[in-house]
Amino acid sequence: EKGGFDHFMLKEIYEQPRSIADCMRGRLDVKSGRLVLGGLRDYMKKFQNAHRIIITACGTSWHAGLVAEYLFEEFARIPVEVEYASEFRYRNPVINERDFVIAISQSGETADTLAAIELAKSKGATIFGVCNVVGSSIARATHAGSYTHAGPEIGVASTKAFTAQISVLSMMALMLGYQRGTLPEGQFIQFLHELETVPAKVEKALALNSQVEEIAKQFKDVRNFLYLGRGYNFPVALEGALKLKEISYIHAEGYPAAEMKHGPIALIDEEMPVVFIATRDSSYEKVVSNIQEVKARKGKIIAVVTEGDTMVKKMADHTIEIPSSHEAFVPLISVIPLQLLSYHIAVMRGCNVDQPRNLAKSVTVE
Ligand code: M6R
Repeated sequence: EKGGFDHFMLKEIYEQPRSIADCMRGRLDVKSGRLVLGGLRDYMKKFQNAHRIIITACGTSWHAGLVAEYLFEEFARIPVEVEYASEFRYRNPVINERDFVIAISQSGETADTLAAIELAKSKGATIFGVCNVVGSSIARATHAGSYTHAGPEIGVASTKAFTAQISVLSMMALMLGYQRGTLPEGQFIQFLHELETVPAKVEKALALNSQVEEIAKQFKDVRNFLYLGRGYNFPVALEGALKLKEISYIHAEGYPAAEMKHGPIALIDEEMPVVFIATRDSSYEKVVSNIQEVKARKGKIIAVVTEGDTMVKKMADHTIEIPSSHEAFVPLISVIPLQLLSYHIAVMRGCNVDQPRNLAKSVTVE
């Protein structure tokens, strides 16, 4: 059942080239330049004319929502808010029929997300679900939705569901931008091509496994970890930190790299490993200066960089080179080594990777 892997988590990490491709199959047709999400068809007008997009979710799904905030605002120029379902539902939020709410959930059973949906629905908003489990409570409670088609995810730590969620949200953002005219046809087509190349790039990132395992050996006994990224890689930093803490029980925090100097920088000394997601994108130079700041304080730097990088390589203690991609789709690739890093550290610490203590796969109580 684990397909020759020691744990479901590793199997699911390795499934990602296929699960991302499955998610795009029948939806993305590069040859004809078409992108179709069946679930969106009847609600496309509402989506296009929305005054605001509100994304609600918990945990890793909330991180996918943060990536979507960047995607939707960049491609479609509609303001986006990303809300923890547990906060949203109890806040008496301002919401009405011109809002388009997207609820993201792997299990489709998360109690807080379900309650947030019911609340938004009662205020007249349109609710769209991005779920993995077919026929789940959230899938049924929403007006429409698109499944992520990642297949069953058994490991409590979400991996392939996360990349499938981002794949669906990327397609939604591209469709929306194209329909609204904020994303010109030429660029739209280019992005379709780019998206189609993602599974092969994820495959290449998986080939870094033994290198990541070596890095894991050196850091398995530390007590803290920091994860820093900017732009599209900021949510990836949060996700990397969440993966590590939930399965290895090492305290880890993710931050937007520039926020470091507003507090976390005080933590840095020669004992502190800092994972930077420093791919070649619009915030690269800025991240490089953040790396310098950590280096000056003797922090240990593990950097995820774009293939062929030289600048960060000179500064970092360890670099992991991933294939280059348009920055909008980098999270799908840059998260892979972070999933692997947390996996190996947890295994080396003797933790129960698939069923970490105190956690449940679906959180059906608030
Ligand atoms: O099933 P959901 O996507 O609604 O679950 C949300 C969170 O409980 C979930 O992502 C949790 O954070 C994972 N254990 C993270 O790996």
